[in-house]
Amino acid sequence: MSKTITGFSKFTKQEKIDWIVNTFFENPAIASKTLSQYWNSDKVLQDLHDDFIENTISNFYLPYGVAPNFVINNREYVVPMVVEESSVVAAASLVAKFWSTRGGFKATVLSTTKIGQVHFMFDGDFEELKNYFNKSKTSLIAATDAITKNMRKRGGGILDIELRDKTTELDNYYQLHVTFETKDSMGANFINSCLEEIAKEFEKEDVQIVMSILSNYVPDCIVRAEVSCPVEELYQENAAMYAKKFKQAVDIANVEPHRAVTHNKGIMNGVDAVVLATGNDFRAIESGAHAYASRSGSYKSLTNCEIENGIFKFWIEIPLALGTVGGLTGIHPLAKLSLEMLGSPSANELMEIIAVAGLAQNFAALRALTTTGIQHGHMKMHLSNIIKQLDASEEEKTYLLNYFENKQVSHSAVVEAYNNLKNT
Ligand code: MEV
Repeated sequence: MSKTITGFSKFTKQEKIDWIVNTFFENPAIASKTLSQYWNSDKVLQDLHDDFIENTISNFYLPYGVAPNFVINNREYVVPMVVEESSVVAAASLVAKFWSTRGGFKATVLSTTKIGQVHFMFDGDFEELKNYFNKSKTSLIAATDAITKNMRKRGGGILDIELRDKTTELDNYYQLHVTFETKDSMGANFINSCLEEIAKEFEKEDVQIVMSILSNYVPDCIVRAEVSCPVEELYQENAAMYAKKFKQAVDIANVEPHRAVTHNKGIMNGVDAVVLATGNDFRAIESGAHAYASRSGSYKSLTNCEIENGIFKFWIEIPLALGTVGGLTGIHPLAKLSLEMLGSPSANELMEIIAVAGLAQNFAALRALTTTGIQHGHMKMHLSNIIKQLDASEEEKTYLLNYFENKQVSHSAVVEAYNNLKNT
């Protein structure tokens, strides 16, 4: 049977499912049941989710957890997190509590400029192009008036348009490099619409537009979050030695890209979880963060650490182009709920909260890595997950948790211990 199809998007949902399960599954009835098990019984809600994308046949659940006890700029938060990795929320909660008794997190938005570009080709005299651009600049901005009207009322809009000569990198290649302020919206649609109007206005016979699109590299949309405390308040024993090791771990990530990637991945565990919970675009955040981490020409840590005069200081600077209005933030019921849980933050406040989530996650990872090792905590969570899968009773669960307190956890070892327990 052919496994390609035309007109699939025109099928009803049931027709799509029937074709998929009958074409790709050994047991179509089981596949069909699994898909329908994840439908929402509330039709209105299911229709809403169906319409987010094309060809929706089911919903894919991820856990929605919360990390309480975050104190950020003296304000208390419960931070919603959507993530599948078992240790992330637990780590965030522990670290939030830890820093809540040490002054909490301090966060500041350093800049909020977003970028879009019209990429074009011009095979002529640069001076002539410059004159044409300078003469057109006012009309380029005017061409976006209808689109920017509301944004301007909110204090945003186009900040500047620059002509950039890129011909040393690619023959005949130039850009209109446009900077934007998009206030509480992430602004992707707004920026792209403006750019397309600008491109239409700028295009002429010898100016050939290639494309107009926002950039997810936003090195001028930066937030900084920080924690600090006296070194002796960091650890119960050997505080100075452990603080030094912690700083060495950050220093290593600053000089060794292999380590930096994993180090930053840990940061993104926290960042992405809150980005997802608030209905923001985690792919945009990911690509922007990693590009920023490479801005010096080699890939480095997004966090930094300093120990001076007995004070431990740990901070992150990260680009975060986020929205608290528009996009999914106002449509997805759980995104709306997350934002309300966070006190209906502005985009700037959300930047601060998410930078803190990243910093907290990195703190948890480095503290574990430089003391007990990461597997200790991970395995505890892993053990609970395996026990859950085994459908163990409360009594059996307590036995297994105690049994593995000082033993290596693996799936087979837990199953064996469980079976032994059952057979005694
Ligand atoms: C795992 O998801 C994240 C860590 O590997 C981060 C790190 O190594 O810093 C624990």
